Amino acid sequence: MDNLLSMSDAKDEVFDILDTAADLKSGKIKEKPFKDKYLGMIFEKSSTRTRVSFEVGMNQLGGTPLYLSSKDLQLNRGEPISDTARVLSRFLDCIMIRAKKHETVEELVKYATIPIISGLTDKEHPCQAFADLLTIKEYKGDFNRKLVFVGDGNNVCNSLLLAAAYVGMDMTVSCPKGYEPDKEIYDRAKKAAEKTNATITIEEDIHKAVENADILYTDVWVSMGDEEEQEERERIFRPYQINKQLLSEAKSDAIVMHCLPAIRDQEITDEVMTSSQSAIWDQAENRLHAQKAILYHILKE
Ligand code: CP
Ligand code: NVA
Repeated sequence: MDNLLSMSDAKDEVFDILDTAADLKSGKIKEKPFKDKYLGMIFEKSSTRTRVSFEVGMNQLGGTPLYLSSKDLQLNRGEPISDTARVLSRFLDCIMIRAKKHETVEELVKYATIPIISGLTDKEHPCQAFADLLTIKEYKGDFNRKLVFVGDGNNVCNSLLLAAAYVGMDMTVSCPKGYEPDKEIYDRAKKAAEKTNATITIEEDIHKAVENADILYTDVWVSMGDEEEQEERERIFRPYQINKQLLSEAKSDAIVMHCLPAIRDQEITDEVMTSSQSAIWDQAENRLHAQKAILYHILKE
């Protein structure tokens, strides 16, 4: 894996990365291979989990992370991303970037000579998807399961579709009309799923969708960058909430996941978030182990 912009960049290494994440978490891998290695972390948007998990993770692997807010870089005064890429490639060993537009990260890759990891764009969130797979593996033991993503077919949903397809997990997206996942990614996931015998579907009816679900997953109705549509989205997504009633319509041992941050009483209730069926806090912790595994694979190669 040269870069990680899309879950597709890791399609041949998904299981290896998950094994590494599990070994890092259990302490089986103890080495700190990144002495004298520097990770630049560029943020154009807010972050709690992505920033802290990469910063702590890089330190734990013996390397040095540098937090670079785009507001403080010369990017903010119009220096092109291409020049930023050329220069940072001479100081750093890897860049993790959270960008407003996916194209910004593609531009960075074009001009950088070091590996680039996407820490979320408007299109995908592959780092999240690795933590999600790790969590599902821990809770369910295998991927012979049905995951239902409820709500907005957004960046998190797009990466999960690809992740599910590559590991052979069934996934249904239940969303209102007009808020489906990215068409090209959906088609790519469906095609990949043919090879792993997984079923990828969209089902507008939330009650039909959650039948037999092993995992219910949701994310905010208003992602970063969608704030102008807030009122409209809050109205349209209202029926797409994970609450106790909806959870009771899934399998009795179903787990609930959310990438966080969550807005209580919109996409999910507090009761469900803090219930015994919630995997959300372990999922958040797994960002650390997953991010370390990604760094391990991308930087050691
Ligand atoms: N899930 C996630 O990426 O969280 P942050 O926005 O806090 O990084
Ligand atoms: N879909 C959300 C995910 C945040 C981690 C957003 O893009 O804001």
